[in-house]
Amino acid sequence: MAAVVLIGSQWGDEGKGKITDFLAEKANIVVRYQGGNNAGHTVIANGEEFKLHLIPSGILYPDKTCVIGNGVVIDPKVLLDELDHIEKRGIKTGKLLISSNAQVIMPYHWVLDGLEEEARGERKIGTTKRGIGPAYQDKVSRIGIRIIDLLDKEEFAEKLRSNLVEKNNLFVKVYGQEALKFEEIYETYLGYAEQLRSMVTDSSLAIDESIRSGGRVLFEGAQGTLLDVDHGTYPYVTSSNPIAGGACIGSGIGPTRIDRVVGVAKAYTTRVGEGPFPTELLDESGEQMRANGHEFGTTTGRPRRCGWFDVVIARYAVRVSGISDFAIMKLDVLTGFDTLKICVGYRVGGEIIREFPQSQKIFRQAQPVYEEMSGWQEDLTLVRRFEELPGAAQNYILRIEELTGVPATLVSIGPGREQTIVRGGIY
Ligand code: GDP
Ligand code: IMO
Ligand code: MG
Repeated sequence: MAAVVLIGSQWGDEGKGKITDFLAEKANIVVRYQGGNNAGHTVIANGEEFKLHLIPSGILYPDKTCVIGNGVVIDPKVLLDELDHIEKRGIKTGKLLISSNAQVIMPYHWVLDGLEEEARGERKIGTTKRGIGPAYQDKVSRIGIRIIDLLDKEEFAEKLRSNLVEKNNLFVKVYGQEALKFEEIYETYLGYAEQLRSMVTDSSLAIDESIRSGGRVLFEGAQGTLLDVDHGTYPYVTSSNPIAGGACIGSGIGPTRIDRVVGVAKAYTTRVGEGPFPTELLDESGEQMRANGHEFGTTTGRPRRCGWFDVVIARYAVRVSGISDFAIMKLDVLTGFDTLKICVGYRVGGEIIREFPQSQKIFRQAQPVYEEMSGWQEDLTLVRRFEELPGAAQNYILRIEELTGVPATLVSIGPGREQTIVRGGIY
């Protein structure tokens, strides 16, 4: 197996960082293909915790090449700070390559993210305010600044100047704010460019060459299926394509190159930000999940909304990404519940639906139809083989496999690398 895509199967924060780090051991290249520093991927390596926002989670292995692909929106300051932070902690990092075609998040994108959210009022999305949406807007509007533009003083000056005319018009005339100054931004970003220059390359070519020569490539998705701008709970989504197809677009490789798709899913469900969530628990069971699972956002620190596992969502993720294997995460967090619920369909009006609805109006009304299973009381965090899990925990995983039709090849019972039950090979 050469190329594996790893995606979030729910609303993000499934544990992609942990599984990327786990699988990266056997990979040569790890690639981020979409999103930006709205992501927060936690990796615990040799007992130390790292929170990565932009750099692929393979960076903690000194011999891995990491790639930030063309589909990513890069805030250069965040990237440089992140590199600096890891190096200062004494970690010998792998080699980092940056696609010359990746888009740059500019200061006006952060400002706009805040202003647009405020203007939405009650209908706010609950964005991370990192400028992600506005940066992707500019990309699609064909006025975005790419990393390659930053490396060329004249090109950058021209693009920045024309962007600022438009953005300052908006700030001053529509939002009544102060205009941003060209010189300040220009000088600062040219400084970033010099620090990044040696890493910038045609990363599509580097990935293709590796695959052709028998290398193993791991694509690390950010966010999750239901945050996908096309396939998610629109408009309560991010502005990129976290699903597996996004890996091709965001890195410049073709779909025939991909051998396997790993869907990372929590053994329950969480969501940060606004939008519908049928299995959300607003009672003490939800509190118990949040407390046991430390469910607070890695990027913004917001409490994550918690609820039961939703098979309608999992099956939908299987469909839109062609998931071949599940990594079921945080099974240990469900210890202590007498009964567990799995949502197998939605009641909408008088009907029961089993496929994820196209209409968000219908999704908003969806009432979960649950199947109940026995829980377990044993601590799972020291278990290393599937057969050592309590019977009820094994049954829970087996039932998820049965309902989704996809093997749970990896089962995670703690944040550490070693707290991973392997039931089959991925590479
Ligand atoms: P990502 O955005 O998908 O990479 O996920 P996050 O890092 O935002 O959130 C997942 C959190 O769960 C992190 O704090 C991980 O350290 C932690 N984690 C991952 N797997 C497990 C697990 O199996 N059990 C427990 N208890 N924590 C886990
Ligand atoms: P990882 O990679 C969870 C959510 C935000 C908001 C919506 C849009 O750690 O799984 P944006 O700033 O992207 O415009 O916000 O998407 N969101 C995430 N939720 N995990 C993430 O990333 C997220 N990235 C964005 O909370 O609801
Ligand atoms: Mg996260």
